[in-house]
Amino acid sequence: MLQKKIAELAEQTGYWVAAEALALLSIPPDPSHGDWSLPCFSLAKKLRKAPKAIAEELAAKFPAPEGFAKTEALNGYWNFYADKAVFVQNTLNEIKEKGLEFGFAEQKNKTVAIDFSSPNIGKELAFHHLRSTMLGNSLALIFKASGYKVERINHLGDWGTQFGKLIVIYLRGNLPTDEQTLSNLTIKELNKLYASFSVLSKENPELEAQARDAFARLEQGDEFYRKLWVAFKEATLKELTRIYKIMNVDFDHYTGESFFEEQIPSVIEELQNKELLVNSQERDVVLLGEEMPPCLIKKSDGSTLYATRDLAAAIYRKKQYDFEKCLYVVDNGQALHFKQVFAVLERMGYEWNKDCEHIPFGLILHKNEEGKWEKGKTRTGTASLLRDVIEAASAKILAVINEKNPELANKEEIATKIGIGAIVFNDLKNRRLMDVKFDWDAALSFEGATGPYVQNAHVRLCSILRKSGKNTAELQFKSNELLDESSYDLIKILSRKGEKINAACESKEPSMLAQYSLELAEAAHKFIHNNRVIGSAEENSRLFLVYCAQQVLESVLELLGVAAVREM
Ligand code: ARG
Repeated sequence: MLQKKIAELAEQTGYWVAAEALALLSIPPDPSHGDWSLPCFSLAKKLRKAPKAIAEELAAKFPAPEGFAKTEALNGYWNFYADKAVFVQNTLNEIKEKGLEFGFAEQKNKTVAIDFSSPNIGKELAFHHLRSTMLGNSLALIFKASGYKVERINHLGDWGTQFGKLIVIYLRGNLPTDEQTLSNLTIKELNKLYASFSVLSKENPELEAQARDAFARLEQGDEFYRKLWVAFKEATLKELTRIYKIMNVDFDHYTGESFFEEQIPSVIEELQNKELLVNSQERDVVLLGEEMPPCLIKKSDGSTLYATRDLAAAIYRKKQYDFEKCLYVVDNGQALHFKQVFAVLERMGYEWNKDCEHIPFGLILHKNEEGKWEKGKTRTGTASLLRDVIEAASAKILAVINEKNPELANKEEIATKIGIGAIVFNDLKNRRLMDVKFDWDAALSFEGATGPYVQNAHVRLCSILRKSGKNTAELQFKSNELLDESSYDLIKILSRKGEKINAACESKEPSMLAQYSLELAEAAHKFIHNNRVIGSAEENSRLFLVYCAQQVLESVLELLGVAAVREM
């Protein structure tokens, strides 16, 4: 890697250590200013010299390192111009050697636990769970590519007052409770029950209290209630696993809230022993000072809360996985909850609380009947449901395929992959804290910053490779045949894959890779447009570049959780 050469040289100057210089290296926006540039601004104070003078001194004193044509000083930057042929040779050889894993980091022997998706049982997966699922899945893949061992955790919301609600409404409707009926329950029915609870409880406020009692009974182990609860959970899991399968998302652990039931008494005891628990307004709480409301641990009827279970879960995860980091990919609305939980851990004396991090994200908005953007609500059953979204997206893409390429084999499967890719990409392309406007037509379009656009670039690369009829991974290339502007630009972008993965990992922003995939797609389209590949005098070199671009694009799409389809 040529960047390393710059870092080594920077260390020789005595002004930087190599790793520091590597992190500082940037790519000049104007290519006529070189391939990389090392800013000298941070040295000004220490050396009592203007950055401009420092850069000039360095450029005059140190000859260009091996692999570079020249270096130059410009406005406080020390600019490096690669020897293009060497750069092309190195980059493409490395892709040849590493294939899809080009740009991946070495194994670190460290674990990251990622809590994502984590929907509530008894309800359909709603839009914000879709965001958590997609962000979490992509982050898990990015951390893995960055050399971490990843534990994918689904902290299902399978415990809490909401089950009291479901039980109350189920029994109130006199619905049958024989094994047969219970095992055939569907998520749709459960969702309807939820919706009817919210409607009914408005007229009958006593239902809320009944629901709390029902949950307390469930928590105390009432057999009949447990039987209902198991049935609700099974019905939901059936649907969830179906959706995860379509989206190609999986988990190492389905440890939901109920899983921690057994550990809760010891957590409460620990809180007591550490004198953190106080009784306030008939509830046991941990006081968190001025800046935060107290964290609720136990209600007067003895039932525990969301936060109690999160405390138990965090302690369990640390013991079980000895994580370097524990990430919670949960919507921004829960920011206070996580602040409280992490603060309680700190008061318990767990220094690793600083390794727990809430990874928040914005809302998904969709248009209501009046054409206004709004957030969907699940409890009342009005949210657009993920399943419908996936099905509708796939149907739209299938219509396009039927028009343009009706003979395509497996077209339903491909349409589903593109439809889902469109949803995922639409979600991941912007920084995660931004609200996502879900605009169907824009997201499913083959033009613009969309999943289908990037997938289509990959399809074009694949189709050239297929048509060539050659074993393209093994081709010999000549780097001096790849120095024209659009080839060289593409290669430069390819070379940045590792740097982009690293940046996405550090900032926990899959959007960085989504933006990178757009850059890749655009450069690939441009290269194909400007250069005839098959039948040209440079055929082998160009085909090899097509192969390298395909490998990088495939891998980046996969890291986003978007299928890299080969035909459409
Ligand atoms: N089930 C929760 C919800 O849907 C999200 C759980 C997130 N994870 C956690 N450890 N609290 O709002």
